[in-house]
Amino acid sequence: MEKPILEVFNLVVARSGKLVIKDISLTINEGEFVGIVGPNGSGKSTLMLAILGILKPSRGSIEIYGNPPLSRKLHRRIGWVSQAAANLPKDVRLTVRELVRLGTVNSGNMFDLRDNGRRERVDNAISMTGLEDVEDIDISRLSGGQRQRAVIARALATEADFILLDEPLVGIDRESRNSLLKLLDQLCHEEGKTILMVSHDLTAIRKTAHRMIFLEESIRFDGPTSSFPDLEKLADLRGINDPHEDHQMHVEN
Ligand SMILES: Nc1ncnc2c1ncn2[C@@H]1O[C@H](COP(=O)(O)OP(=O)(O)OP(=O)(O)O)[C@@H](O)[C@H]1O
Ligand SMILES: [Mg+2]
Repeated sequence: MEKPILEVFNLVVARSGKLVIKDISLTINEGEFVGIVGPNGSGKSTLMLAILGILKPSRGSIEIYGNPPLSRKLHRRIGWVSQAAANLPKDVRLTVRELVRLGTVNSGNMFDLRDNGRRERVDNAISMTGLEDVEDIDISRLSGGQRQRAVIARALATEADFILLDEPLVGIDRESRNSLLKLLDQLCHEEGKTILMVSHDLTAIRKTAHRMIFLEESIRFDGPTSSFPDLEKLADLRGINDPHEDHQMHVEN
C-alpha cells in the first residue's frame, strides 16, 4: 500500500502580488525519491518554502503526514537543506560536530541537558555522510562538498523521515556530487527516507530520482524518470519555438 507523505491540492502561491505557482497538485509517497527541475524563477524554491510553511499559499492546501505545515506533530519529521546551505556564515566558529548537533535541538529541548540519544544520532549522521575525519574541524575550513554534507548531516540528525533539498549540488565538484547522490540514494533505499530534491543538474537528478517533476508555474511533467522528455519535447512543453532560446537548464556529463 502506498502511503502518502506529502499531499498538495490546487496550490496557488503569490509573491509580491505576482502568481508564482499556479494551481498545482501532487502527492509524494513514502520511500519515493522525487526530483524537481525547471528553469530559474520557475517556482521551485517557492514550492519548497510553501511546503515548509514559510510562505502561505493564496489558495489550495498542503498536508504532510496528514498535518498542515508547521504543525507541532511534524517536529523532527522534516529535514530541510536550503539553497543557501553551503553559504554557512564564515565568521561563526563552529565545528562540524557542533553544527550537526544543532539538528537535534528544537524549541522543546533547548534547555534540556540530558543526552536522550542525541549523541548517537549525531554520531550516526556524521558517519552516514562520511565526515568522521573532519568532525572536529571548523566548518569554515571545509570544502564546498564537505560543507554541503555537513548540512545534510544536520538534517539527518533530526531523524527526519522526509528530506527536502534545494539545489544541494551547486558549487560542489563532480566527485563530491557523485558521493552525495549515492548517499541520498542509500538514505532512500536503506533507511526508507522520502526525498524531494530540487536541482538544475538534469543529468545528475536523472541518475538518482525515481520520479521527476518539471515545474514552470504549473506542473508540465510528472512521471517516472525513464519517461522524462528529452530537451526538444521539454521545449514543446514549455511552449518554446525558438531553438536558440537559452532554456537555462545545465546539461552536464
Ligand atoms: N522574496 C521574494 N519576493 C518576491 N518575489 C520573489 C521572491 N523570491 C522569489 N521571487 C520570485 O518568485 C519567482 C519564483 O522564484 P523561485 O525562487 O521560487 O524560483 P526557483 O525556481 O527556485 O529559481 P532558481 O532556479 O533560480 O532557484 C521568481 O519570479 C522570483 O523573482
Ligand atoms: Mg530556487
